[in-house]
Amino acid sequence: MMDMSSIDARTFRDALGHYASGITIISGMVEGEPVGFTCQSFYSVSTEPPLVSFSVMKSSTSWPKIRPVRNFAVNLLSWDQLEISNTFAKAAVDRWAKVGWTESAHGNPLIEGALFWLDCETYAEHEAGDHTIVIGRVRYLCRPADRNDLSPLIFYKGSYRQLSETRGL
Ligand SMILES: Cc1cc2nc3c(=O)[nH]c(=O)nc-3n(C[C@H](O)[C@H](O)[C@H](O)COP(=O)(O)O)c2cc1C
Repeated sequence: MMDMSSIDARTFRDALGHYASGITIISGMVEGEPVGFTCQSFYSVSTEPPLVSFSVMKSSTSWPKIRPVRNFAVNLLSWDQLEISNTFAKAAVDRWAKVGWTESAHGNPLIEGALFWLDCETYAEHEAGDHTIVIGRVRYLCRPADRNDLSPLIFYKGSYRQLSETRGL
């Protein structure tokens, strides 16, 4: 066991990297333009009401733009969207240049080829260290028709992975 007070940021990140997750793009429409960023820290919170959450760095430039709209979409990325994950984590690039998207029922950008889309309205925000925890109430969800073949983009120990085996409970 390591004493928490002596844990440096690198060790902390390496340890938490052992928790595998999917990857999302959090997106919103700001003055008619799509805005979005890559986000791993997404998870489900509550069924009744339907709530989801993610953590965003306080240094994020996208979240302060999306925040006042109080509406955002969560795009659950598929394995085929690995490049989109990298692009939406880069600064000073046109993230939307090579991405097909449509507008959701609540006006949020939905990225083509995603596994699933969730349309959310901001339910709560909590300050937490160098991040903000955002909780969204899900208003609408849908998936692309005829794409049961898509597999999720997995992030584990600092690398992207693809699922190779399935086993029931
Ligand atoms: C695989 C991956 C996962 C990420 N997960 C998060 C996350 O959960 N929260 C976050 O704030 N940034 C996360 N990032 C970093 C942001 O995508 C990155 O800092 C981006 O440039 C932020 O854009 P913005 O300044 O437009 O908000 C992740 C990046 C990658 C590549």
